Formats: sequence, structure tokens, C-alpha cells
Amino acid sequence: MNMQMLKDTARLLFADDKGLLAMDESNGTCNKRFAALGIAQTVEARRAYRELIVTTPGLGESIGGAILYDETIRQKKSDGTPFVKVIIEAGITPGIKVDIGARELAGHPGEKVTEGLDGLRDRLEEYFQMGARFAKWRAVIAIGDGLPSWGCVEANAHALARYAALCQEAGLVPVVEPEVIMDGDHTLEQCGEITDEVLRTVFGELYAQRVVIEGMILKPNMVLPGLACTIEPSLEEVADATVNCFLRAVPAAVPAIAFLSGGQPAELASARLNAMNVRFKSRMPWALAFSFARAIQQPALEIWKGRETNVVAAQQVLVDRARCNQAARRGEYSQQMEAK
Ligand code: G3H
Repeated sequence: MNMQMLKDTARLLFADDKGLLAMDESNGTCNKRFAALGIAQTVEARRAYRELIVTTPGLGESIGGAILYDETIRQKKSDGTPFVKVIIEAGITPGIKVDIGARELAGHPGEKVTEGLDGLRDRLEEYFQMGARFAKWRAVIAIGDGLPSWGCVEANAHALARYAALCQEAGLVPVVEPEVIMDGDHTLEQCGEITDEVLRTVFGELYAQRVVIEGMILKPNMVLPGLACTIEPSLEEVADATVNCFLRAVPAAVPAIAFLSGGQPAELASARLNAMNVRFKSRMPWALAFSFARAIQQPALEIWKGRETNVVAAQQVLVDRARCNQAARRGEYSQQMEAK
């Protein structure tokens, strides 16, 4: 294992207060987002949309890494230039989603386990050859009546650790994503308790599998109430619940924590990240960053709507969102940035 290379990659991804752009929606998820906006659900539409993203002028000033999907990493611009080349020339490090999705966990109604370990060593080698330098694996943990079960948390944590160890062996920085999802009516406090338990279990498994903590990235959920919970917390309450949870459960050697957005409105995700950096910057041992999909892409997708004539306007909105999140890393995000 080339430890220095892993550390260098991890540092590069978040240098200059940059973050990650998750553009790794599976075909099914991408098609679902397209269908909601009346966009054709075809290979060509997905390719055109990803071309819009990777050719956005100035994106590399606020985005350090882009997470691709297996279909996307093999695709090209309409002029034949491979996306990976375009991304690297923009100063962005290519990454790749390597799990193959969450499936029902046997014996655990309502719970899922993420699959994709079989053959992973060979796939990682191929992705490295293609230019990827980091990878992502997402586990899904639901909160509900009696959920999550220990079996679900443990199975997902173990798979994340096996994945992470294989990534490091292959020279790829693993982005470890245990997502406690927002579905349900649970409170902020309940989300905090479950997130704490999940993170402790994940790090226990990472140590057991000898994952080098300095050469990985954590991609967690923010601590938030469920979507059906009627109590809306303030920015400060979310910031305190989230960062205090991480200060207890995440080792200081982790170079960066990069949040998923989980379906939060884009502006709110920026405001919450900003509040965390404003309130805790001097006390956090890790960079507190972003790895958003919807909270960066969704406003741009709604403008694009599959039409060539909307590409420039959509790119402008995309880069604006990326800049807002870079500002949030610095604790310098404000509502005025949105008006602009
Ligand atoms: O795995 C999930 C994505 O990488 C993050 O997506 O920001 O829309 O939750 P999201």
C-alpha cells in the first residue's frame, strides 16, 4: 500500500476549501430524477447531462473531486474526449462509486445491506487504470420502530470496512458513507443517538480490517430530524448536534468529513454546513466539507430540463452552488450569495 499517495489524494480533494461533487447516481436513480422533470431516460440524455457538468467553466475552483458512476467513467464528450480527461484537465480528481446498491437484508424486514464485494479487487484495479483515485460505497441505515437492528448496522459496517481495505490496497482513497436516512418521524436527538452508534460500529470495523484512518474520508449524514418530524431545528441546533456527535465518535486522524445532503434543500444544506464551520472551526481536528449530489446538482437539473439551449444557464447555477458550499467550508456563506 502506498500510504503517501493515499494521504496526498485525500489532501488534494479538499485543498483550498474545496469539496466533492457526487455525480454517481446509478442509472435507475438518474432516470428517476430525469422522469420527474420530463427529461428522456436514455443513455444519451445521461451522457449529455454529465457532459454539461464536467464542462462547467470554473468548476475546479470549488470542486476537488467528482464521484462518477460505472457508465459515466466510460463516457465521452460529444467531440470524443473522455470525461475522465476533461475532469483531470479541470483540476478535479476523478472518483468512482463501487458498491452495486443496497438490497433487502435477509431476516431483517425494512432494512438493507449494501452489496458489491464480490470481484471488487479486480474492479478497483480497472478503475485505477482508468484514472480514478478515490472511491465511494454507501450503506443505508433506516430509523423506525425497533430499527436499526444491530444485525443491520454490523453487516453494513463490516462491508464498508472490507471495501475500504480493498480500496487502500488498490491505491484508491475510500469514501466511507454510512447514511442514516431522513425517512420517518424521528427527532433530531434520535438521529444523533443512531448516528453515534453507527459511526462507532463503522470505526470499530475499520480498525479490525486494518484500514489506515489517515487515508480515508468519512461521508456521513448531518444529524437531522426525520422528514415527517414536526419540530424544525435551528441552524445552530443542527450544527451542535452534528459536530458534537462527530467529536465523540470520529477519530482525529480522519483527514476530512464530507457530508452527503440526503435530500435537504440546497440552500439549507449550505447554511447548515456554514453554521458548523462558524461555531466549531477552531475545535475540529478534521476538515468539515461536502460531498453533495442533489444539493449541488438539483437546481441546475431543473434549469437544464434536457434542452441544449439551457446548458449555459444550468452550468452557471451549478458552479454557483459549488461556490456557496466552498464558502460554507470557510464559514463565509451568507444569504446574499444566493441573491447574487
Ligand atoms: O450516496 C449519495 C450521494 O453521493 C449523495 O447524494 O447529496 O443527494 O444525498 P445526496
